[in-house]
Amino acid sequence: MRGVTLEEVRQFGEQLGRSLAPGALLLFEGELGAGKTTLISAIARGLGVPAGATSPTYGLVHRYEGARGPVFHLDCYRLKTPEDAADLGWDVMLSDADALLIEWPERAGSWVPSGGRRFFLRHTTDPERRDIEER
Ligand SMILES: Nc1ncnc2c1ncn2[C@@H]1O[C@H](COP(=O)(O)OP(=O)(O)OP(=O)(O)O)[C@@H](O)[C@H]1O
Ligand SMILES: [Mg+2]
Repeated sequence: MRGVTLEEVRQFGEQLGRSLAPGALLLFEGELGAGKTTLISAIARGLGVPAGATSPTYGLVHRYEGARGPVFHLDCYRLKTPEDAADLGWDVMLSDADALLIEWPERAGSWVPSGGRRFFLRHTTDPERRDIEER
């Protein structure tokens, strides 16, 4: 998708969130400010997380209550090395999550489970629009 506005990304994300099967794993890559958190928030809303609800458990892990179960949002940006991802509680997340949404997954290296859907976000020449690609 090219040239997506904020309104469009919110609609896309909510729709995507509504369509996910339980246990979904989604990864979001892209430069600073590309819109990863914005898209994740919209997906969380589609999964039934009340708008604006955040309850950081510790550090990089956010756990929200969705309509069907917990929605985990991991922001790996501040990991210094992939080994630091060892303590994030992967077993619990993988067994409990209705959805696991990971921002900056490349920073967690091989801790990121395989098989997820990968989204790449990019700035465009228009500061009001972004490109979003699933690969
Ligand atoms: N599709 C879009 N069109 C226009 N603006 C957008 C779009 N998506 C996000 N933005 C805006 O871009 C800014 C950064 O978005 P966001 O925080 O989601 O980026 P991010 O990729 O999570 O950044 P970071 O890597 O720092 O975590 C916000 O002000 C947001 O409103
Ligand atoms: Mg972010």
